[in-house]
Formats: sequence, C-alpha cells, structure tokens
Amino acid sequence: MDDYERPLFFHLMEYAAEADGDVVDMVSGNPDWEPPEAIRTGLKRYADSGVDAFQYPPSDGLSDLRAAVADRHGVDVDRVVVTNGAGEANYLAMATALEAGPADGVLMADPVYPYYHKRARMLGGTPRFVPSEPDGTLDPAAVRRAASEDTAAIVVNSPNNPTGGVYGGETKRDIAAVADANDALLISDEVYERFVYDEGAFETALAADSDRVVVTNAFSKSMAITGFRVGYGIFPPRLAEAVRTRHMLVNVAGSRPAQRAVLDALEQTPESYYERNRKLLEERIETFCAALEAAGAAYTRPQGGFYVMARFEGYPGTLENTERLIDEAGVAGMPGDAFGESRAEWLRFAVVTPRAEEAAERLAAYFG
Ligand SMILES: Cc1ncc(COP(=O)(O)O)c(C=O)c1O
Repeated sequence: MDDYERPLFFHLMEYAAEADGDVVDMVSGNPDWEPPEAIRTGLKRYADSGVDAFQYPPSDGLSDLRAAVADRHGVDVDRVVVTNGAGEANYLAMATALEAGPADGVLMADPVYPYYHKRARMLGGTPRFVPSEPDGTLDPAAVRRAASEDTAAIVVNSPNNPTGGVYGGETKRDIAAVADANDALLISDEVYERFVYDEGAFETALAADSDRVVVTNAFSKSMAITGFRVGYGIFPPRLAEAVRTRHMLVNVAGSRPAQRAVLDALEQTPESYYERNRKLLEERIETFCAALEAAGAAYTRPQGGFYVMARFEGYPGTLENTERLIDEAGVAGMPGDAFGESRAEWLRFAVVTPRAEEAAERLAAYFG
C-alpha cells in the first residue's frame, strides 16, 4: 500500500494560513454556517447525562437514529448502518463489492472526489475512469461501455464534487441497470443532497428498483458538522450483515454523543434551516459566478453542492499555480488536476466563505 499521503487540501489550507498576505480560503468543503440549534443544546444537555451515556452505543448506531434515517428514506431499518461519516459508508460499500471477487474494477467519473480512487486502490481494486459530460454529470451510455464482468462497483456522487452536476433519476436508474447487468454494486454518494439549486433535479438512487444499490450519506454537510463524523449507508438486505460485521471490526462503534446530538437535531430542526443555508449558498454562487463572468473566465455554475470550477486562460490547475494564486492573488482553491485529467486546466473553489465575492474580485483583478 502507498505510504500515508497527507490530503492535499490540508497542505493548501496550511499554505494559505502561512501566506504573507490576507487570503480568502476556498479550499475545503467545511461549512462556515451554524449547525442546527439542537446540536448545541443537545451537546450541552449530554454533558449532564448519567454514566451509561458515556459507554458504547450499539455498533451499528443508536437505534432511534437508525429508525429516523430509515423513516426518512422509506427503507427497512435493518438496511441502515450508522457510520463515521459518508467516508466510512463509502469504504464499507467498496470493500463489500470488492470482497465478492473476482471482479476488481471500480468505475468512477473523471473528474472525481480523490478519496474514491485512493480507497479503491487501498482495497486492491482497480479504478477505471469515465469522463464526465460538460455539465458535470455522467452519461449512462458511457458507463455501460466502460462496464464489464470485471466491474465490481460503480461509484457516483450527486450533487457532484467537484463539478456541481446533479444526476437525474433516470440517469441513476440507467446506471443501476448497468450495475445489475454486470453483477456490480452501484454506490451512490448523496452527501450534498440538501444543496440542490434546480428544484426537482435530484433523485436518490434508492428509487432504482435494484438490490445492487447502496446509498451513502452523512450529516457532515447538511448540518454543518464535518467534525462530528456521523453518516450512514443504506445497504441491500443481503449485504447488511456483512457490512455490520466489517464496521464493528474496524470501529467497534461510532461516537455516542455525536449520534445523540444528530438525533435531537433530526427531530427538532425545521426545514427552514436547510432552506436558509441552501439559499445562502445559492446567492454566493450567483455573485461568485457573476464576478468570474466579468473576469472573462470559463466557469461551471453548480446545479448542486458547493463547489465552483473556473478556468483562466493560460493558467492550468496545477498545485504550483494554485500556490501562486494564494501568494499573488490572495485566493486559495484546489488544483483541478487533483480531481483527474479532464479538469486539469481548471481550479476548484468552495463557496463556504462569506468572502466569495471578494475572492472573485481578486481573481478578476489578477487575471484582468
Ligand atoms: C463526495 C464526498 N463524499 C464524502 C465526503 C466525506 O463525507 P464525510 O465527512 O461525511 O465523511 C465528502 C467531503 O468532502 C465528499 O465531498
């Protein structure tokens, strides 16, 4: 296995923090808005709980939390495993797909969230990339051409990091059919589900009538709690037991106070909380894109999620150029080439800062 490779976003956040001048940080996907109120009140109350509350929770998650998740998605509770973020749910799904063997191919889009291919390699799989469409979605026909009996899993992410594309229900059903035809697992990472700007564009992969679909999700982004590590996977009934065992042997269990606070928040948070944050991001995206437009840059306007990609003439999205932009323009993003070949000319900016407009003005001045 490769040596531990420090995630690039840590490196860039640190580089930005140590820069001489003032830098607008648009590197990582850490929300900058408040979690639901019930998260803060729940944690405070938790501190006064009896000793039982400080002991192991059930390995697969607090049963009320699993029930709330099952209820929200209309699935049997036995299919739900609470995980340490969407990250662990993706790991469990990929490991389960590869364990079935002998197929070792893991299909994914290019550009792609880098943890997918690194995790596939770690598990002995072989990542295979399918180029995204210009709108950042995936064409099921291209997935069909790339799939074979050697395919163990197909990983999709919608709304997408980094392209902002949202795959419609038909696309997901068609890709699920490809998974079915090749005896592979479709892993649908829906962690940005609460951030969709075209109403009705998003549909969960659970809508596909297939027992080869795993949906992964988390509260990390939707509740602005990436540090809590509470996510979940919804697995086909035939795989749920094996997944539980793997989760238990890796983690023993998840964090009880974090799960309890999330459960409180699920019960008490009005829809308006999610709506407010979605709107906030939509406005930021609007102003950021308008400034990029004025700067004559090419850019993607995300249909979902919170990343904007921009391309500046003669300025490819390398690490070197990303660092230069921090030093000379005072804006920190992620190099597009970190996400694959197809967006190597681009840079990715996370709009999780109230200074997005200022950042775009700095970019306009720098490239203007
Ligand atoms: C597509 C995608 N999946 C998963 C994650 C990680 O989610 P979690 O923090 O819940 O593990 C991220 C984080 O940025 C992401 O962008």
